[in-house]
Amino acid sequence: MTIITNGRLITPEGEVRASLAMKDGKIVRIGEMTPSPDDEVIDAAGCLVYPGFIDGHTHLDLPVAGTVTADDFASGTTAAVAGGTTTVVDFATQYKGDDVLNALKTWKEKAEGKARANYAFHMAICDWNEQVRRDLPALREEGVTSFKVYMAYDTALTDEQILDVLTEVKKFGGVTGCHCENGGLVTALQKQYLAAGHTDTSAHPLSRPAEVEAEAVNRFCYLGRLADAPINIVHLSTELGLHEVRRAREAAGCGGLSAHGISGGFRIYVESCPQYMLFDDSVYALPDFEGAKYVCSPPLRKPSDIAALKGAVMSGEIDTIATDHCSFRFDTQKQAGREDFTKIPNGAPGIEHRPAVFMKIFGDALTPSDYMRLLSENPAKVFGMFPRKGALIEEADADVVVWDPEDAWTISAANQHQRVDYTPFEGMTVSGRAKYVFVNGILAAKDGEPTAAVAGQYIRR
Ligand code: URP
Ligand code: ZN
Ligand code: ZN
Repeated sequence: MTIITNGRLITPEGEVRASLAMKDGKIVRIGEMTPSPDDEVIDAAGCLVYPGFIDGHTHLDLPVAGTVTADDFASGTTAAVAGGTTTVVDFATQYKGDDVLNALKTWKEKAEGKARANYAFHMAICDWNEQVRRDLPALREEGVTSFKVYMAYDTALTDEQILDVLTEVKKFGGVTGCHCENGGLVTALQKQYLAAGHTDTSAHPLSRPAEVEAEAVNRFCYLGRLADAPINIVHLSTELGLHEVRRAREAAGCGGLSAHGISGGFRIYVESCPQYMLFDDSVYALPDFEGAKYVCSPPLRKPSDIAALKGAVMSGEIDTIATDHCSFRFDTQKQAGREDFTKIPNGAPGIEHRPAVFMKIFGDALTPSDYMRLLSENPAKVFGMFPRKGALIEEADADVVVWDPEDAWTISAANQHQRVDYTPFEGMTVSGRAKYVFVNGILAAKDGEPTAAVAGQYIRR
């Protein structure tokens, strides 16, 4: 057995001072215990012990914008465990003309044997048709219970199709997430800025203003309400979008996890990401094309949006914190848009730094139990993995992070494991590091460095 002693365990019931024993990939005991000579003992004195952190929104090995994301499942999950994330929920993506079962097969092959963190898949449905409808029960049997639709990009579905998806997914208790941006408006605004000769990165946020997100959030909420189905608004970035969530929750008398838990019917879950609570859109005016490093969609916003999102985290209106990790090299891939901001591949890295950065943003304003809920328990609940994941309880999977809150270090591309030549958090000093990271009971990282173990497993939900 491996026994973690002397730590402060952050359990669903609160903080507990006890030992935790792991065996054969499971947490087998929490309580007082005397190790035997055969046991491996991990001294967690001065540390918090969390259930492994779960990143519910990553894009690894994703072909997009004429290129492929810089991180695949090997480098992406190596970075994940180095930072304390033990499970990622990535987006298997069905492209036009493909079928969803084949898309799942493709994404499983991308991950199998390479993943240091556990992995599950949402299915991004980009071509809704009768075959996909027929395949959904088989997908569910394969363990895929969460889905994503887009309202923007060439992957967008129509409102009619999204309503259909929501209705079908509801039948087996799944949840549907949505990229809420009005794609028609984005295209129109991009054309206007390009026609006016405004081709640099500062046009990116102007072409995707808050109204573009808020209108789509409002529409997705009404579609969820019509279908009486649970919905997940991913990467919420604006105060205006938050107002739409509040209005929809109030009008329907529903809420997210803190209000109603995880049983069926119309629910609005909300995800946001650390970058939207840290950076404002002034970064898009940086010289030397540096703004391209922050080109993601939705874009970074105004200081008032940052304040609103942070307030929503504090009040429990935001359920989960993910990364939307979608990495592209600055020296090559991002350069595609030097002359035309619409050609910059959208996305930024973050899978390695989410726990430390998020804790830096909120500090003592949130408790360890809040961090546990937002980074682990809630994503496990929303995506159908709880309590196997997301909880330090007996019989749960032994995904465990021993977190040293006093270990101060500086984030830099020079010391990261993300396979990309920059980090948006360059130079940020954080206090807190994953000292020991166990994936299925196997030591996957120590002091921010991966071990040789490749212990990630597919999570059939
Ligand atoms: O810019 C981003 N976020 N790219 C990733 C794909 C998405 O929209 O989530
Ligand atoms: Zn998205
Ligand atoms: Zn995304």
